[in-house]
Amino acid sequence: MPKQRSLYVCNQCGAEFPQFFGKCPSCSEWNSLVEQIVTPVAHSNRIPALSVARSTHSKAQSTPRQAPQPIASLTLPQISDHPQARLSSGYTELDRVLGGGIVPGSLVLIGGDPGIGKSTLLLQVANQIASRYRVLYVCAEESGQQVKLRSQRLGIGKQQRNGEAEKQQEEKSTPSEPELYLLPETDLETVLHELTALRPQVAVIDSIQALYFATLNSAPGSVAQVRECTAALMQVAKREHITLFIVGHVTKEGAIAGPKVLEHLVDTVLYFEGDRFASHRLLRSVKNRFGATHELGVFEMADGGLAEVLNPSELFLSNRDEHSPGTATIVACEGTRPLVVELQALVSPTSYPSPRRSTTGIEYNRLLQILAVLEKRVGIPLSKLDAYVAASGGLNVAEPAADLGVALAVAASFRDRVVDPATVIIGEVGLGGQVRSVSQMELRLKEAAKLGFKRAIVPASQAITGTELEIIPVARVMDAIAVGLVAGGGKATIEE
Ligand code: TYD
Ligand code: MG
Repeated sequence: MPKQRSLYVCNQCGAEFPQFFGKCPSCSEWNSLVEQIVTPVAHSNRIPALSVARSTHSKAQSTPRQAPQPIASLTLPQISDHPQARLSSGYTELDRVLGGGIVPGSLVLIGGDPGIGKSTLLLQVANQIASRYRVLYVCAEESGQQVKLRSQRLGIGKQQRNGEAEKQQEEKSTPSEPELYLLPETDLETVLHELTALRPQVAVIDSIQALYFATLNSAPGSVAQVRECTAALMQVAKREHITLFIVGHVTKEGAIAGPKVLEHLVDTVLYFEGDRFASHRLLRSVKNRFGATHELGVFEMADGGLAEVLNPSELFLSNRDEHSPGTATIVACEGTRPLVVELQALVSPTSYPSPRRSTTGIEYNRLLQILAVLEKRVGIPLSKLDAYVAASGGLNVAEPAADLGVALAVAASFRDRVVDPATVIIGEVGLGGQVRSVSQMELRLKEAAKLGFKRAIVPASQAITGTELEIIPVARVMDAIAVGLVAGGGKATIEE
């Protein structure tokens, strides 16, 4: 019997120490070390969970050792005799975020605030996929009855969506009944056992923080539990060639709870976010081994579950007030997806010694920088004015291409004028007040044209071809303000 020993694991960064520290020597977080009892396993296997997985299924484990192979001789995995590299989730929005569909055998981690709709999304996706493949939904957080209730609410069992065409193609090789299995279980070993016994093509773990590996003394959801459970699941998934969707909770700061190493383990990390008070939800990829990152999928939460929003720009522009001063329309790019977003700015005299600045959906520091540029290079005195800037629709616009739009919105609010509502504004603002070029300009202009915009204020340094929009090139912020603001606020008559 191997000797047990104590190990202290940091809940923040996952670093391990043989002794206790009040402050983690690795990440400098206070009071983050928790004690764990470790029983070393007989052979040189560092991860205890893996050894359990191995001992439970030692037969399957005894596969021959892999030798190096030439890349040309490798073949792509086949699912249900269908030699496609990716399978559709039934939702174009999710497929886009995943880089064109689900890669068989991959590990996808989905994080998000509580109640944002992770379970709803995955149950709907599981249902879609279940019409073609065998799916196991491990509901560690809810009972089978609770999931059943939710599935009734979602009308699962009745709906057949985009997957229809594909389904017909595969009719011969697929079962006619949806094969969606529920497993209300928190014990990791049972889950691993069922995965090996049922051999589903796709499995959902909801959530990794609720799973429990009995050999570890720490509580479910602790760094050690999360890490070991994910590692064990990953090993079984890779061996059995199961595509895994893992739900992960997020911490107060918005990162997935658990050690950073979790995000390194998996192939794809998605965040499901959105304003809890608004109905739309954004699905964003922050890591993707099989596609571009920062791709965006948009869904809308309704009574019958999540529905895709195939044209999100229309959603973001739906509550537009074209004639109020201080609004400007920009085209942001999320991954390869252009989104037309309305920005609103309000500047008003401050009643504090130092003025307030507040942003929603725009980076705070970028606003400070733009305000400084407006003050110094354009001569707008903002140091005695509060400034508020917000992007519509709960979208977070982090990219610098929004700078010029912010500058124009602030200037418009200051002068109580409107920006021509048929104009989109695209450009980065430099500290010297110059307007800099941005990436993916063609995509942005195309989206604006599609939505009926007539003009675009763009950086003069950027060569632009092949657009039906009227192009207004500007070299400096000052020029953009001169051409962009059209008339007095409220009473404006805007030419179309
Ligand atoms: P849920 O998927 O349970 O969130 P998570 O798993 O991320 O914690 O979503 C719960 C929220 O979604 C809840 O506030 C109610 C709402 N909802 C709807 O509005 N319509 C629906 O059809 C469903 C199933 C949930
Ligand atoms: Mg849930």
